[in-house]
Parts: sequence; structure tokens; C-alpha cells
Amino acid sequence: MKLPLISIYLSLVSVALGVKLPPSFMQCDVKQSDFQQCLTKAVENAIRQMNRPLKEVHLLNLEPLEIPAMTVAAGSQILYSQQVFKNMRVSGFNETTCSKVEFDSATKILKLDCTVPRFRLEFDYEVNGRLFLVSIYGKGSGWAVFVGNRMKLTFKLGEYEKKGKKYYNVVKQELKMRMTDIEFNLENLFDGDEEAADRVKKIIKENALEIFGDVKPGYEEAFGLIFASIFDRFLGKVPAAYLFGEK
Ligand SMILES: *[C@@H]1O[C@H](CO)[C@@H](O)[C@H](O)[C@H]1NC(C)=O
Repeated sequence: MKLPLISIYLSLVSVALGVKLPPSFMQCDVKQSDFQQCLTKAVENAIRQMNRPLKEVHLLNLEPLEIPAMTVAAGSQILYSQQVFKNMRVSGFNETTCSKVEFDSATKILKLDCTVPRFRLEFDYEVNGRLFLVSIYGKGSGWAVFVGNRMKLTFKLGEYEKKGKKYYNVVKQELKMRMTDIEFNLENLFDGDEEAADRVKKIIKENALEIFGDVKPGYEEAFGLIFASIFDRFLGKVPAAYLFGEK
């Protein structure tokens, strides 16, 4: 899989002084007895607030999240076509709920278990290959909604020092997605041959989860990298001491 091109706003903001969390963010102290519950609420609140950019902490607008280009590798069992996306907009994060967020300060592993009820993608797409035994090709606009999208995201953090302050960074990430249904539409499939398009869309509708399962690792890797990149920019701005009340 090619790495997604993440052209996040490229202003060269100086990183002279670390900044505290925005006042609207909840602060949790690793020493408080209900730290994990506090963190779960704090992360959920933070994600939901990202419907506007929080420039002071280098957080992007997640509502929508814009991904200029993303290419996902062909599957190995069902969908033998790479999926090329341009101008992708991802939304639905404003309704995120998190059932569990855990941070282990010894191993520096942060685990999130969150659900985005309607994880919506809008895009320009291009496919050219085979679906089951049928040929599939087309280029146009489209959308998809992952319904009940549960995301388990694990970050392994590292730490470093900058101007006498400790900071975290993301050294590794893993994303697992599971959804209960997929709704979608692809315009201009088969270059506008409506009959062929309807036939294949029916096949996709009836087998959406199974088909997506064949290519899901590529999406998990791409979105995992994107989330890691967003989180890493934030971590580079806010010293560790301001995150979890550590010394
Ligand atoms: C989230 O955004 C969508 C689309 O803008 C909107 O319809 C919905 O009401 C929002 N939900 C919340 C909880 O703000």
C-alpha cells in the first residue's frame, strides 16, 4: 500500500514553548484513582470538539477530515483492484463515543476503544480490476458510510526532551475497525453503463461486509497512519507534564 499523502496545513509554527491543553479539554492526572474513566471522557470530549481546528495545540479540524489522496491495495480473495481515492472527506467524529481509553505510563501504551456511529467518507474514486469473478471499473464520485463503526486504536508512545521539557511522540500505531453495515454509492461505475453498474452495486450491497473485509487491512493501515499523524502533531506541542499530570 502507498502511504496516504497527508498534506496537513503546513504553516511553520514555532515550537519554542510548550502549550497547555485548551481550557475546554478535561485534564486527568495519572495519580487520581479514577484516571482511566477520566481519560475516557476526556478523549471523547476532545474528539467531539475537533469540529474546528485547535491551532494552538496543532489539532486539525476533524469535521470533516480532508485527505487529498489515498490508495488502498487490492484484496487477495474478493476485490482484485486497488482503490484510488482523491479529495476524500471523512466526517462523523462529532458523534464519537468511547467506551474505554487506557494509558499505561510504564509501557507508554495508549489504547482507545471508540465508536463512530456513522463514519462517512465522500470521495472521487477509481477502480479497475475484478470483484469476485466479474470485471469492475469506473471513475467518478462516491460516498460510503460505515455504520456502527467501532475503532480500536493503540498507540505506542516514545518520549524525548525539547528545551528541558519531556514530550511524547507516536512510535507505532495499530487500528482495528469493525462495523455493522456499509452504505455506499459509486457514480459512473462502468463509465456510465447503468445496467452493468446496477448489477454490480447489487452484488456489493448484498456482500458489503465480506467484500470490505478483503481490503480492510489497507484501510486500517491508512487511517491508523492518519490518526497517528494527527495525534503526533498534538503531542509535539503539549509537554507530557500537561497531558496526564505527570512530573
Ligand atoms: C454532527 O454533525 C452532523 C453533520 O453536520 C450533524 O447533523 C449532527 O447533528 C452533529 N451531531 C452532534 C452531536 O453535534
